[in-house]
Amino acid sequence: MFAKMHHVCLSILVLACLLPVALSTGSSVEWCYHLPSCNDTTWPVIATRFCNGSRQSPINLKSSLKSMTSSQQKFTFTGFNDKAGISKIKNTGKSVKVEFKAGKLKVSGGGLSTAYNSLQFHLHWGNSSSPGSEHTVDGKRYPMELHIVNAKSIYNGNLAKILQDSEGLAVLGFFIEVDSGTTDQPASWRTLTYHLASITEKDQSADITGISMNDLISGVDTSSYHRYLGSLTTPNCNEAVVWTVFKNPIKVSKNLIDLFSTTVRVGNRSSPLMTNVYRSVQPLNGR
Ligand SMILES: *[C@@H]1O[C@H](CO)[C@@H](O)[C@H](O)[C@H]1NC(C)=O
Ligand SMILES: *[C@@H]1O[C@H](CO)[C@@H](O)[C@H](O)[C@H]1NC(C)=O
Ligand SMILES: *[C@@H]1O[C@H](CO)[C@@H](O)[C@H](O)[C@H]1NC(C)=O
Ligand SMILES: *[C@@H]1O[C@H](CO)[C@@H](O)[C@H](O)[C@H]1NC(C)=O
Ligand SMILES: [Zn+2]
Repeated sequence: MFAKMHHVCLSILVLACLLPVALSTGSSVEWCYHLPSCNDTTWPVIATRFCNGSRQSPINLKSSLKSMTSSQQKFTFTGFNDKAGISKIKNTGKSVKVEFKAGKLKVSGGGLSTAYNSLQFHLHWGNSSSPGSEHTVDGKRYPMELHIVNAKSIYNGNLAKILQDSEGLAVLGFFIEVDSGTTDQPASWRTLTYHLASITEKDQSADITGISMNDLISGVDTSSYHRYLGSLTTPNCNEAVVWTVFKNPIKVSKNLIDLFSTTVRVGNRSSPLMTNVYRSVQPLNGR
């Protein structure tokens, strides 16, 4: 499966492959979240390059941290209102990934040095009784975290160049918090999670229509965020990411949040449910 992903990534589909499954730059590593033989404590051993690096992600975010600034510089989100920008939802076996139509969504501003093309978003979660965001804030873990993955536009999708640049990828992290007292809210998340039943097994995908990226992050104040330099949070953990983690969470009803940990599986229909799909927080090492 990893050999196959790698092959696909060398093809013209390189952009769609980026994360979280397949940013393999030569070696293919069998990694997982749910087995002691391949969970995140083993990644520095099974993917020494780069999971054992010194600027790894995620981290515990604190406003007091040295290089962490909460900037007021506004982002420009292009195409985020386009209901035709989102194309597909897929079970990758490690996460649920939503692909954007090529070239439709872009991100600039927000203190980023240049423009980035948005490729996909995916999610991290826990289980119905335990939260599963990747970043924590002063030790608090949120129920879920959404990552919009963006690649520096000047590289035109050249994966090698993207990964050699310490800011080749800009990932936008959104926390997801329980919207207490509601069910099935907001409507955009009802639409998104409706599709989970069609992608219960690994490699299944479904078309999505009628929702925009802005619908999914609606209500979030994007002018306030944490910024730091880090890595991919899945092997090979390349240190090529400028992180933005918004302080204000997306609010989603508990029943919809729970659909992730109770619907999709890591493999076929007899495999375990996909739960606790997040990496532990990493050392700051002076950041
Ligand atoms: C991950 O695996 C290690 C052994 O490699 C084990 O000690 C640890 O409990 C596991 N963690 C989880 C969350 O399963
Ligand atoms: C990771 O790096 C540390 C020092 O940077 C080293 O002591 C350790 O052996 C490395 N672990 C692996 C698995 O390479
Ligand atoms: C949820 O995950 C936590 C953390 O790994 C674990 O301790 C707990 O048993 C799990 N709960 C359920 C209901 O699976
Ligand atoms: C599911 O996958 C497992 C492990 O790959 C395999 O042994 C089993 O036969 C599969 N079951 C079905 C119903 O396809
Ligand atoms: Zn992620």
